Amino acid sequence: MKISELLASSRVVPLIQADDPAIAVEMSRALAAGGLKVAEVVFRTDRALDCLKAVADEVPEMVAGAGTVLTAVQAEAALENGAKFVVSPGLDDGVVAAAQKNGVPIYPGTVTPSEVQRAYNLGLDTVKFFPASIAGGVPALKALSSVFRSMQFMPTGGVSPDNLTEFLSIPAVIACGGSWLTPADAVAAGDYERLTELAAEAVAIARVARD
Ligand code: 3PG
Repeated sequence: MKISELLASSRVVPLIQADDPAIAVEMSRALAAGGLKVAEVVFRTDRALDCLKAVADEVPEMVAGAGTVLTAVQAEAALENGAKFVVSPGLDDGVVAAAQKNGVPIYPGTVTPSEVQRAYNLGLDTVKFFPASIAGGVPALKALSSVFRSMQFMPTGGVSPDNLTEFLSIPAVIACGGSWLTPADAVAAGDYERLTELAAEAVAIARVARD
């Protein structure tokens, strides 16, 4: 399945942040058990690359992308270690080019019309909208999507069960991303069941939003 199809059917993309590959694997399995089969392993720890590789190698039921990718070098490393897609907080031509050269989807963070237009002219059809809640939330996203009619958006940043339905109800939203599915306290306590419950809750919300 293409990544875009996977995002469109999953509709929710959890963030996996870990400094131990074994923990990243447990988190991935727990999320997949709750029904989420695509996730971002974020480059915010020294061992993020190892975590990504472990998830890619050991959790076949999870399609893992690399998140918080800041440089083209990081993007190349992520792709060499199993990333199926790349997500960035901002729009960087080098990161976009690295992903495009490898034929892998890249979802750069955008907020302003100029950023979305730049992404469009770099050949992208889907961008992240980050930080979604601070950057104007649902009204801002509706305004952007009314202008960029073919662009699809992945709002991330401040998304939660409380506003997930509202974001997913915007036709231009392919999926929402967020860290609420992987609370640090639950991970620290080894409470992976909590992740499964949060994933299942998100899947249920997404189903209602679609219907
Ligand atoms: C991201 O990297 O996409 C954001 O940090 C996610 O934001 P959140 O923590 O508010 O979900």
